[in-house]
Amino acid sequence: MENWEALEESCLHCDRCHLCGTRHNVVFGVGNRESKLLFVGEGPGEQEDLQGIPFVGPAGKLLDDMLSIIDLDRDHCYIANIVKCRPPRNRDPQPQEQDACIGYLENQIALLQPKILVCLGRIAAQRLIDPNFRITYDHGTWVQRRGMLCTALYHPSALLRDPGKRPETFDDLLSLREKLRELNI
Ligand code: URA
Repeated sequence: MENWEALEESCLHCDRCHLCGTRHNVVFGVGNRESKLLFVGEGPGEQEDLQGIPFVGPAGKLLDDMLSIIDLDRDHCYIANIVKCRPPRNRDPQPQEQDACIGYLENQIALLQPKILVCLGRIAAQRLIDPNFRITYDHGTWVQRRGMLCTALYHPSALLRDPGKRPETFDDLLSLREKLRELNI
């Protein structure tokens, strides 16, 4: 298995799919490499592409607020995405782009060995939990996958578009806090 430095270095020079042609920066991931809690979004947006850091745009500000509700911040967890380069106009990453990129996340998971994986939105949940995951019905539920306890929350962008979903997400966050306590994370 690669170490973090080698993995990041190869990711920063990646040309496995055509998204490398339009990116400003590869968005590898951020946070605590010792943490047992991993959040995974779908892919960088405009601000993330410009800064090379995940979740720094408006959705990122909301993610920080969501973390603070349960007394977490970026130093307590690791944050990554399914694809590391921005899809044009923030469209969903296509299956072949995800396939080209997923090895980086798999390696990040192997190095981190998280106990809890939180998918942010449908794309991550369908890739990492279940291809038939229905975010509207299945958010906040817990399943075991490859030694990790996994759940999904609504993507912060979805919560910005539809604040009516926020009470459900508040409950999901409380459930996450409970699991973190149970597992001593
Ligand atoms: N949305 C994502 O899924 N990931 C980011 O890093 C930013 C916005």
